[in-house]
Amino acid sequence: MKMIHVILVFVALFSSYIPNATCINNDFCVADLSRPKTPLGYQCKSEKDVTVDDFIFSGFVAGNASKLFNLGITFVNVEKLPGLNGLGISTVRADLGVNGSVPLHSHPDATELVIIVEGQVNIGFITPTKIFLKDAKPGDVIVVPKGQLHFLVNTGPKKAVAFAAFSSSDPSVQTLDLLLFGNDLSTSVLSKTTLLDAAQIQKLKVAFGGKN
Ligand SMILES: *[C@@H]1O[C@H](CO)[C@@H](O)[C@H](O)[C@H]1NC(C)=O
Ligand SMILES: *[C@@H]1O[C@H](CO)[C@@H](O)[C@H](O)[C@H]1NC(C)=O
Repeated sequence: MKMIHVILVFVALFSSYIPNATCINNDFCVADLSRPKTPLGYQCKSEKDVTVDDFIFSGFVAGNASKLFNLGITFVNVEKLPGLNGLGISTVRADLGVNGSVPLHSHPDATELVIIVEGQVNIGFITPTKIFLKDAKPGDVIVVPKGQLHFLVNTGPKKAVAFAAFSSSDPSVQTLDLLLFGNDLSTSVLSKTTLLDAAQIQKLKVAFGGKN
């Protein structure tokens, strides 16, 4: 291949990596939330429309406690903080009342770093061969590897607070109870596939909004 051809191939290769020309210095791509979300995230907001407010979220306060789990959750993902788009990071805070818990769930696309800020919690994740469980206290940092089914339980006499960071700007959340009891999958199928009895399934369907 002649040198000019080699150069042209390189130019062609690299030009396909140059993102949308509206990106500022190609260093970030603030989400344009008015356009549809794609599997790769949101498209970039035009540079002239980007402001400092795209990089700040001011509501990182305790969420209202849910009745079922006595848990307040405040997620700050790309929809709340458009500047996170494409940066592979986001955050959440969990406020657990007395006896509160974060129910069993997983993030198939994100590793989570949990920082205990207040109170005492039992935190763990479950693998096919082992349970990794810890009584954690303020100052403890726990990493939950991507995809692991995990939970927190407030084991202290007062409220507990944990902050967490995710390795995704828009982590998905799969909550076990909602997958099982928050939809129309029939009690008969659930009973056969989990061996739970029908009465218990019906009770949980009422709690999580499922039918059938
Ligand atoms: C909690 O609920 C109240 C009343 O509905 C609402 O005004 C407030 O914004 C909620 N707090 C949060 C953090 O969502
Ligand atoms: C928390 O749970 C324990 C039993 O596990 C119970 O004795 C206690 O009353 C509960 N506290 C509250 C505030 O619900």
